[in-house]
Amino acid sequence: MQDDFAHLPWLSRTERGLCVESIALTDIAAQHGTPAWVYSKQALSKHWQAFADALSGRKALICYAMKANPNLSILRFFAEAGAGFDIVSGGELARVLQAGGSASTIVFSGVGKRRDEIRDALTAGVKCFNVESAAELRRIGAIAADLGLRAPISLRVNPDVDAKSHPYISTGLKENKFGIAHQEALALYREAAKHPGLKVVGIDCHIGSQITDMPPFMAALEKLLELIEQLHSQGIALSHLDLGGGLGIRYTDEDPPSPAAFMQSIVDRIERHPQAREMELIFEFGRALVGNAGLLLTRLEYVKQNGDRLFAVVDAAMNDLIRPALYEGYHPIIEVHPTTGEPKLYDVVGPVCESGDWLGKARSLRLGVEDDLLAILSAGAYGMAMSSNYNARPRAIELLVDGTSLRVIRERETVASLWQSEV
Ligand code: LLP
Repeated sequence: MQDDFAHLPWLSRTERGLCVESIALTDIAAQHGTPAWVYSKQALSKHWQAFADALSGRKALICYAMKANPNLSILRFFAEAGAGFDIVSGGELARVLQAGGSASTIVFSGVGKRRDEIRDALTAGVKCFNVESAAELRRIGAIAADLGLRAPISLRVNPDVDAKSHPYISTGLKENKFGIAHQEALALYREAAKHPGLKVVGIDCHIGSQITDMPPFMAALEKLLELIEQLHSQGIALSHLDLGGGLGIRYTDEDPPSPAAFMQSIVDRIERHPQAREMELIFEFGRALVGNAGLLLTRLEYVKQNGDRLFAVVDAAMNDLIRPALYEGYHPIIEVHPTTGEPKLYDVVGPVCESGDWLGKARSLRLGVEDDLLAILSAGAYGMAMSSNYNARPRAIELLVDGTSLRVIRERETVASLWQSEV
């Protein structure tokens, strides 16, 4: 398969090799070393604007699911653009506030909210807790009552639909740990509506990630619309409907609906529902906003042959980008300056001592013997966010390109910083 990048207009081939907007990756490597995460501001703006335009004129809030890429500069970009945030921990709450985001735009998701996290979110004044169990609902109610507050809540309903993505990133089936079974939601809403520490404000779901067609989203929406109707008939009115995130991106040959097409299907259906049409619409997109706005730049260390396999050993590894190892995620890998020889098939691997440490298998590349630069594409989401220090590897630098300007948005970790909090 030939990796092309026509869908990434911020990336181009020039006589200076591969460029992100107006900056050559060769210059970035020379100045800042490798591995390096490089993001395009133009791409962030374009992705954001596509969703914002698709919802213009509607009461809606697009929350950035910041787990995809929690860098403060990325968060600030979204805060300034007018996004809300979907968070899943106290750490993420603190990050949004640090980046200048407003608590009143935050929805707090996650199955394991701790007491201190609930307290912090309540006092910060988050927009909503997306509640995932009866036990959590009662805990939030009790803490809020203690503080003399009423916690705004939504139940995350598990609609039991198959998102048909990788099993590790499907969340809307009844065997998953996520959400509250559809049949139990009604009783729990009734309980919440009577609780002095709770204020019922919404309903939500999130059925998985990297979903590339509409039917799973539409099936989940139907389940939620049914519940909204039933709640209405019992006198429980909701002010928002949160459909979560999960819209997929093109890594290789996927063809997900565009933001406009996605929103059109959803809004068309909602407009025909007597209660939902009046409700604020919320989404929690991560990957669709940042996934195709970033790449991982890496350098070839060695070429080696084992049996009939040819390996390109590069200086990025599974500790930087774990998606291939964990989900068999496919990321296109392209040369910054292809050599003129015939392409060969390489397994692109890192230096980590695990057979699972691979970034791409059987990739057709034109490489020299060492020092060539490679760009691992579609790495803006769940790349740096999931990186670790395994094998005592400092985390890579992050850079943001904006036209002709290049800004370091996170310094490369130093080796000494790795043991700073150890004795
Ligand atoms: N809302 C909730 C409650 C979530 O759990 C997630 C993602 C999102 C929104 C955002 O989903 P997105 O729009 O990004 O698909 N590490 C995996 C993806 C895990 C997604 C976890 N939850 C990967 O690299 O593919």
